[in-house]
Amino acid sequence: MNNQAAQSATGLDVLHHCLGPAASAWPQANGRLLHGSEPLGDWLKRSGQSTPAYVYHLAAIDQQVAVVRAVLPSNLHLHYAIKANPNQRIIQHLSRQIDGFDCASLAEMQQIIAIAPDKAAQASIAGPAKSDDELAFAISHGILINAESANELRRIQALAAQKKQRARVALRINPPFEVKGSGMKMGGGARPFGIDSEDIPTLIRQWQAETSSWIDLEGFHLYTGSQNRDATALGAGFRAAMDLIIELSQACDFTPRHLNLGGGFGVVYHPQDAPLDLAALQPALLEVSATAQTHWPGVRLNLELGRYLVAGAGIYLTRIVDKKTSRGKTYLLCDGGMHHHLALSGNLGQILRRNWPIIAIDQLNAPCTHPFDLAGPLCTPLDVLGQNQELPELAVSDVIGVLQSGAYGLSASPNGFLSHPACGEYFLRD
Ligand SMILES: Cc1ncc(COP(=O)(O)O)c(C=O)c1O
Repeated sequence: MNNQAAQSATGLDVLHHCLGPAASAWPQANGRLLHGSEPLGDWLKRSGQSTPAYVYHLAAIDQQVAVVRAVLPSNLHLHYAIKANPNQRIIQHLSRQIDGFDCASLAEMQQIIAIAPDKAAQASIAGPAKSDDELAFAISHGILINAESANELRRIQALAAQKKQRARVALRINPPFEVKGSGMKMGGGARPFGIDSEDIPTLIRQWQAETSSWIDLEGFHLYTGSQNRDATALGAGFRAAMDLIIELSQACDFTPRHLNLGGGFGVVYHPQDAPLDLAALQPALLEVSATAQTHWPGVRLNLELGRYLVAGAGIYLTRIVDKKTSRGKTYLLCDGGMHHHLALSGNLGQILRRNWPIIAIDQLNAPCTHPFDLAGPLCTPLDVLGQNQELPELAVSDVIGVLQSGAYGLSASPNGFLSHPACGEYFLRD
């Protein structure tokens, strides 16, 4: 959207621009978001459902999975990174559509064993500072461990030997390059994540020389960053990752059976931004997958996506509790805030806070022509929901919805901060 268009945009325009095809999954009629056949706003009042709350819509996840599947070669598997949203129903729903899971903690692995035990062999755990409990649980359940250091490898060997159970391991590579365009970079330079690529051949040779190893070294994991909407940069990153994996494997005559190339697909958080062009990314995905099969026939190749699959499937709803003017600015003071949605306040990894896509759930067709400042209930200037944000005219008790809130929302926020009531989570009826 250019500035001119953005000025007279309606909530519906914002919804479609930011969510792309997943926007059509959100039911609406006569300018109102629906819950089944009833306007969501009416249902909130009638059912006594309180705000603030996250409302999720599983159909929007289906839409997003379909969009990704459409560009993936059939031998590039799609895993879900649970950290994006660990809601049990979301995991359950996704388990029927995707090929595996990326876990980041003991609790996330336990969720997989409880919800989708058949997917344990296609689950992995990544992250620095894994505890002995996490490593032992992964070993017991045959979950692949993405090892982040030489020391972690030694701990895995010791635990596996003690349990007399083989450990499935991939080496997480910290590459010598960064991928341009990632909102949060997690590879290149000095990092707590992964093993520096130059140290990998030595570790593989040590493992090859070890006669009593309890480790099955299956391959590599590489995750360089999150929230990247630049198809060219992502494609270049995948190609560079594959070149590096070939080089490392050839250096020590190692045949990987398992490669995880990460992902980091980004979504549109700001109406001025362009979406990730998946069609433009497809050639790189086809190329790396063909290259992998040429070098190591039958190798399993995975992507692990979080945000891209679930962000558009969540809307954070908050009610306007007070409206006031302060020295020329009109404030909408809301019952929801950074304790439920840290990213919205600009405090989750952003350098500069930018406005998120916000809609008035009962005025989707109204032009957004009124600039408001939106703040939450916390006694801190950090509790910002929007600044000079263009919305339709709004009054106390109206409900607004923050789009793209299905990822890194509730579970990524300081819920206990200031001891406000807990935030609800519910699912939209079709
Ligand atoms: C190892 C790993 N995999 C996957 C993800 C998911 O990333 P995203 O939600 O951007 O797809 C992350 C996010 O930090 C990660 O650290």
